[in-house]
Amino acid sequence: MSVKTVLFTGGAGFIAGHVIPLLLERDYRVRILDNMTRGDRERVAEWEQTGKVELVERDVRYGGAVRSAMTGCTHVIHFATVSINKSIADPHESIDINMTGNHNVFAAAADEGVQRLVFASSASVYGEPERLPMHEDDQLRPLTPYCISKRAGEDLLGFYQRHSGLSWNALRFFNVYGPGQKIEAYYTSVINHFIERLRAGLPPVIDGKGEQSMDFVHVHDLARSVVCALESEQANLPINIGTGVDTSIATLAKILIDAVGVDVQPTFNPRDVLVSRRAADISRAREVLGWVPEITVEQGMTDLVRASG
Ligand SMILES: NC(=O)c1ccc[n+]([C@@H]2O[C@H](COP(=O)([O-])OP(=O)(O)OC[C@H]3O[C@@H](n4cnc5c(N)ncnc54)[C@H](O)[C@@H]3O)[C@@H](O)[C@H]2O)c1
Repeated sequence: MSVKTVLFTGGAGFIAGHVIPLLLERDYRVRILDNMTRGDRERVAEWEQTGKVELVERDVRYGGAVRSAMTGCTHVIHFATVSINKSIADPHESIDINMTGNHNVFAAAADEGVQRLVFASSASVYGEPERLPMHEDDQLRPLTPYCISKRAGEDLLGFYQRHSGLSWNALRFFNVYGPGQKIEAYYTSVINHFIERLRAGLPPVIDGKGEQSMDFVHVHDLARSVVCALESEQANLPINIGTGVDTSIATLAKILIDAVGVDVQPTFNPRDVLVSRRAADISRAREVLGWVPEITVEQGMTDLVRASG
């Protein structure tokens, strides 16, 4: 039987840290391609001890480096990216990494004839949703260079599928949270902010009425979806990965107050806020990947508070 080898770009980052153990359990070898701007060196060094993980410390912007790292790989997971915040502050860098990087990875995967490529897309490709839950066929109105590059990445995968028979799935991750997340995460930094205040005995401060909502999906559930997308029979689709539940900021505050176990009430800061809401339609994930989330927001937040305590 041939060895299954995954080229994992951005494989030293937060979400990858939860996917790689699942890949090792399933007998994949993993070649991480990461420039280590945000990567976790200690974690990578631990995996290297298994003899099944190697680190190629290079940048996805360099096509030659991507091509040589792709040699002999049977599967690809493409996560390397710069975040939304950085894409607004520095659109040039963002376009370079997220557009040129995407193309380098997809073109090399198509040339290598890999069995499957999984691309980390994002719920942000939808922009402000017209309705909930958000369905994959809804109109896309990406708002920032990061979101635009995620959408373009999905379209580019369609090109390599038609041109070279590349087999792919693009996972539109909703609001990912869980152990190991960096505190400045664009959408989910509110979780850490509330936890820090509660631990100091202070109430969470909510702008407006706290009606704005997110679809919080736990990184353990999300990691399983990546492996399902690598192995599914059906492919070549964008697929929402969320829970289908929109949790308002006011509800999140209540959940975290219970999880931390303090006797405070949230404070409301009366001002006009844009009430954006998020909830994924996850029927396609269930049908195509056989994936359903297992961790409720209440459970996941409680575990997070315990783990970071
Ligand atoms: N975390 C979320 O809530 C979320 C939501 C939607 C989509 N996503 C997507 O999921 C993927 C993983 O996200 P994450 O939260 O683990 O991010 P992360 O920042 O923790 O990991 C990204 C990794 O990519 C590496 N990297 C950055 N630029 C690179 C370059 N030019 N060349 C090679 N490596 C480079 C970084 O060093 C880092 O290890 C990303 O594509 C992200 O856009 C994440």
